[in-house]
Amino acid sequence: MSFTIAIDGPAAAGKGTISKAVAAHFGVGHLDTGLLYRAVGKRMLDGVEPIEAALALVAEDLEAEGLRTADVAQAASKVAAIPEVRSALVDFQRAYARRAGGAVLDGRDIGTVICPEAEAKLFVTASAEVRARRRYAELYAGGAETDYETVLADTKERDHRDATRSDAPLRPAEDAVILDTSTLDIDAAVAQAIAVVAAKR
Ligand code: C5P
Repeated sequence: MSFTIAIDGPAAAGKGTISKAVAAHFGVGHLDTGLLYRAVGKRMLDGVEPIEAALALVAEDLEAEGLRTADVAQAASKVAAIPEVRSALVDFQRAYARRAGGAVLDGRDIGTVICPEAEAKLFVTASAEVRARRRYAELYAGGAETDYETVLADTKERDHRDATRSDAPLRPAEDAVILDTSTLDIDAAVAQAIAVVAAKR
């Protein structure tokens, strides 16, 4: 039986960490769908036409591509507003969601568009300031030269673009459980997410 867990939300709300922990807890696979858009964004920065890049994308080894930079994140949110890019990536995501045993998919539109029938849906969020502080700490730890104000402005710009695009905008599904991590540490956030999913199993 397939059991799909959809985890959506804005950048740096804790989605990635929560999704990995939930997948490990329930022993299912995890697809970070942001990596698909990041890969297309990276190819656009390298001069490839985004729709061509999306149609040709091979979603293996994306983790190894160094896609977690600020420039690639902004490029990802630009290509993610192109309907043909989104539609080129749908089948791969839906096939992953139906894997035997179940799967966690995290992104922006999993509960609304990719898997509206998902058995469990979470929308993980936090204030823009908290998210920017977390992202800044990550970038700083990774040696990137940036400052908090720049990261906050980038975060707000990307949220705005993601939430106002006409195709699959960032928003919670009606039946999603909202998990605000602004005042939670990561262990508490993971525990709450696991409890939400466990109640649906
Ligand atoms: O989650 P991450 O920050 O890696 O996502 C990068 C960008 O990819 C997002 O800002 C968003 O524009 C896009 N994205 C999307 N739909 C998804 C996942 C990511 O539009 N399911």
